[in-house]
Amino acid sequence: MPAGGFVVGDGQKAYPGKLTPFVLFTCVVAAMGGLIFGYDIGISGGVTSMPSFLRRFFPSVYRKQQEDATTNQYCQYDSPTLTLFTSSLYLAALVSSLVASTVTRKFGRRLSMLFGGILFCAGALINGFAKHVWMLIVGRILLGFGIGFANQSVPLYLSEMAPYKYRGALNIGFQLSITIGILVAEVLNYFFAKIKGGWGWRLSLGGAVVPALIITLGSLVLPDTPNSMIERGQHEEAKTKLRRIRGVDDVSQEFDDLVAASKESQSIEHPWTNLLRRKYRPHLTMAIMIPFFQQLTGINVIMFYAPVLFNTIGFTTDASLMSAVVTGSVNVAATLVSIYGVDKWGRRFLFLEGGTQMLICQAVVAACIGAKFGVDGTPGELPKWYAIVVVTFICIYVAGFAWSWGPLGWLVPSEIFPLEIRSAAQSITVSVNMIFTFIIAQIFLTMLCHLKFGLFLVFAFFVVVMSIFVYIFLPETKGIPIEEMGQVWRSHWYWSRFVEDGEYGNGLEMGKSSNQGTKRV
Ligand code: BGC
Repeated sequence: MPAGGFVVGDGQKAYPGKLTPFVLFTCVVAAMGGLIFGYDIGISGGVTSMPSFLRRFFPSVYRKQQEDATTNQYCQYDSPTLTLFTSSLYLAALVSSLVASTVTRKFGRRLSMLFGGILFCAGALINGFAKHVWMLIVGRILLGFGIGFANQSVPLYLSEMAPYKYRGALNIGFQLSITIGILVAEVLNYFFAKIKGGWGWRLSLGGAVVPALIITLGSLVLPDTPNSMIERGQHEEAKTKLRRIRGVDDVSQEFDDLVAASKESQSIEHPWTNLLRRKYRPHLTMAIMIPFFQQLTGINVIMFYAPVLFNTIGFTTDASLMSAVVTGSVNVAATLVSIYGVDKWGRRFLFLEGGTQMLICQAVVAACIGAKFGVDGTPGELPKWYAIVVVTFICIYVAGFAWSWGPLGWLVPSEIFPLEIRSAAQSITVSVNMIFTFIIAQIFLTMLCHLKFGLFLVFAFFVVVMSIFVYIFLPETKGIPIEEMGQVWRSHWYWSRFVEDGEYGNGLEMGKSSNQGTKRV
């Protein structure tokens, strides 16, 4: 996932290699990894806005929803079990990604993917056939475990299998497949909600079994990556595999580099203590602050709860689900813009432009909801212009996120960590992201109940803080190979005091091998 985020390589080495069927099939399976993660993000909000689902599993929420609009609308979804249904997945993902990193390293990427696939299948089936709330939660936890494994192994697998020159593009490609997963979930929710008899939510939740099966079967058929074989001492097999994967005979240069990279990464004894060294202060700061800020944009309020939110602010179930499809489509389209522009306009420009756009939209949405619902949450009659303005500004907000913090929240960390700290720093980025994803999922509905429209102003405040942070502290990383990052920190007005001359270039991040760029775990 980006939630695993894979690491873009350094340097511009041109190893011989073709886009072989192996590589293409790998991309399909990897895309499923992103898709299923996105699907799980997007599916829960839709089903929780379906009356038949609420009546069955959350009757108290259902009763509140049925009361007329003269009661406080802000609090109708404020239920701890309902939030647990959404958020448990992220906690499980956090826990399992810690285990998954060892499994991925010791037993190979493939086995980790297989685990992920099986857990996904089990989670999707339990959810689809759920009879009690606990089955829903157990299902979500299994999906979360699956995400921990898949997000650890799939991006890594992809970046190790793909020819070197495609790795950067694939990083955002993975984010794109997440956004497509979210959209697919929203579209299916829209149609399944219409099924007579009110059991459409079973199809929505159970639908995750399709990409889950593709990942499971894919991991049975696909070979392990040469990097992983080398890491486990199987050098000859690795070379033969590399030839087949690249579709050329002469792979010696890439192979030698892989072996060198593997030796280098194994020689790193204390990645965690390394990270605490003074010269890595900028890296540690970014590893924590970038994922923290990404979640504090408030994006997942929309991704998880868009239909619930739209319902709260006065839309019918059908209109809410439709509006979620609209925001989901904008999310996909704007991610494409990012793929196009990230190397043209640079990261800082996108961060700052996206931040400004999100800020304006949050202020407008807060003002609209505040004007209509006031502090007591009683809207009365809602005019059509109101719905149009709210949905439009939420779409512009989503676009701002999707071409800035969405992909860059994963891309930028992957570009700045030298090998010596890569595994530790990347784990921190993933964990911080999951923790705050969990927290937002867990507290949003309660916060909406208490802070009302002011909630959007809380996120707006953080957008201001993060934009200032980027402006002051984040150097541009566009077009900078990882081995030259030392120079970037050294010439930065603030970070130069931590990264001194001669200190940063200890040879590790200079590694002979560009494949070090794929090392993570
Ligand atoms: C974030 C997710 C979010 C998604 C939305 C990702 O970059 O990490 O939390 O749901 O973007 O597209």
